[in-house]
Amino acid sequence: PVITFIQKDGSSRAVEAKNGASVMETAIHANVRGIDAECGGSCSCATCHVYVDDAFLHLLPEADEMENELLDGVASERRPGSRLSCQLTVSAQLDGLTLRIPEMQA
Ligand code: FES
Repeated sequence: PVITFIQKDGSSRAVEAKNGASVMETAIHANVRGIDAECGGSCSCATCHVYVDDAFLHLLPEADEMENELLDGVASERRPGSRLSCQLTVSAQLDGLTLRIPEMQA
């Protein structure tokens, strides 16, 4: 599946992602800048914040309580499409997923 990251400067990067990997890992492996992921994916740092395009929100499982709490403390504004990318698992269904990198992570 291909995931498109819209970077802070407005440029976009389309990345071939592996099923089962997290969206955060996909970004890091592809050197997409702007996802810090300080905790390495254990849902405790909130520095892997992304804005998911509205068209894809319904394809994602809802944020659990832990993610939801962390999203309240993200450095950039929390919006309806805000998610922690380490909690999003790539699957064939998500082909074409588009996300925007927030202005700051911390
Ligand atoms: Fe730390 Fe996602 S990488 S919460």
